[in-house]
Amino acid sequence: MNISKFVTPEIIFGCGALSQLGESASRLGASKVFVVSDAGVIKAGWIEPALDYLHAAGLETEVFAELTTNPKDYEVSAGVEQYLATDCDAIVAVGGGSPTDVAKAIALLATNGGCLQDYEGINKIIRPLPPMVIAPTTAGAGSEVSQFAIIVDAERNLKMSIISKSLVPDIAIVDPELLRTKDSGLAAATGMDALTHAIESFVSLAATPLTEMHALRSIELIADSLRRAVVDRNDLEANTDMAMASMIAGIAFSNAILGATHAMTHQVDGLIDQHHGETNAAILPHVMAYNLPACLEKFQRIALAMGACVAGLSAETAASKAIGMVSSLIEDIGLAQGLGDIGLKAADIPLLSRNAVRDACLVTNPRGAEVADIESLFHLAM
Ligand SMILES: [Fe+2]
Repeated sequence: MNISKFVTPEIIFGCGALSQLGESASRLGASKVFVVSDAGVIKAGWIEPALDYLHAAGLETEVFAELTTNPKDYEVSAGVEQYLATDCDAIVAVGGGSPTDVAKAIALLATNGGCLQDYEGINKIIRPLPPMVIAPTTAGAGSEVSQFAIIVDAERNLKMSIISKSLVPDIAIVDPELLRTKDSGLAAATGMDALTHAIESFVSLAATPLTEMHALRSIELIADSLRRAVVDRNDLEANTDMAMASMIAGIAFSNAILGATHAMTHQVDGLIDQHHGETNAAILPHVMAYNLPACLEKFQRIALAMGACVAGLSAETAASKAIGMVSSLIEDIGLAQGLGDIGLKAADIPLLSRNAVRDACLVTNPRGAEVADIESLFHLAM
């Protein structure tokens, strides 16, 4: 049997789409909405219009924004307490991957009980979640369309991957206007996250034609627009392309899962409060080189999608062009640094490697990897 499954939320995409927020939540039966955001998004001025749209639809609101980059399990617990104490019946996130993943995790615990560790891994959620609408303010995480929530276990210092169809939001409202206020550094880091999602899901062992088409188109869009989006934060065309690229990479990885890069970054991000996209930039080219023998044909397609000329080259040389294209993009957007530069110590590598082989994302990496392989990759990425 060759069966593939594919899930996405309802998607409302385009400049001005945020105006659909109130109607969307209302249509899902909400009366009092728990709005999850963070300090940066509030400062950027996006929470006010979001609340206005919700109030205009006759909805009450409660705001929760006590969370950090790489959100922690105890931050989610505080959110659950506030959600339950304020009698909310729906959840909206306005923000990047952190508020979105926290919103999903609050929705999960508010209805299913227990602690997040009970749901780590794949398909462990049993009861339905409250209605969820997500409006991303960054182009990278793709969480607005995915069945993933990634939360730091503060005791174990690692990121837990919670993967379930129940975590797919009901409605994703993707408004490229909302990307305008993030700075160039964040545009680069989040764009790199989107590229890593697209590449890892494209070569994933669980990839299907339905995921591959989204992943490859995302790679094309990112190769074409990320540099421009980093240089000029007001370039609406580049922002729109990046919003689309991030979203469709999210659709791809939500359904095909990821690979060794994410299995490794989840460990580093749990230890060092660094932007996940920067960690991806340090690790992805090395994982691609490791995966190359298993991905000759797909890497050639990535090289082509990124604009490389591969005519007349051997399969291996053509495939390796994909790694060159990714490395130059990383250089051009200012993210060329090693894990050592962002604070990782060589002494941390053995523990991180042991944890990485237990991460759900490693299962779909196109080339098998043992602890020793992951250790070597960490050392190369230093
Ligand atoms: Fe990611």
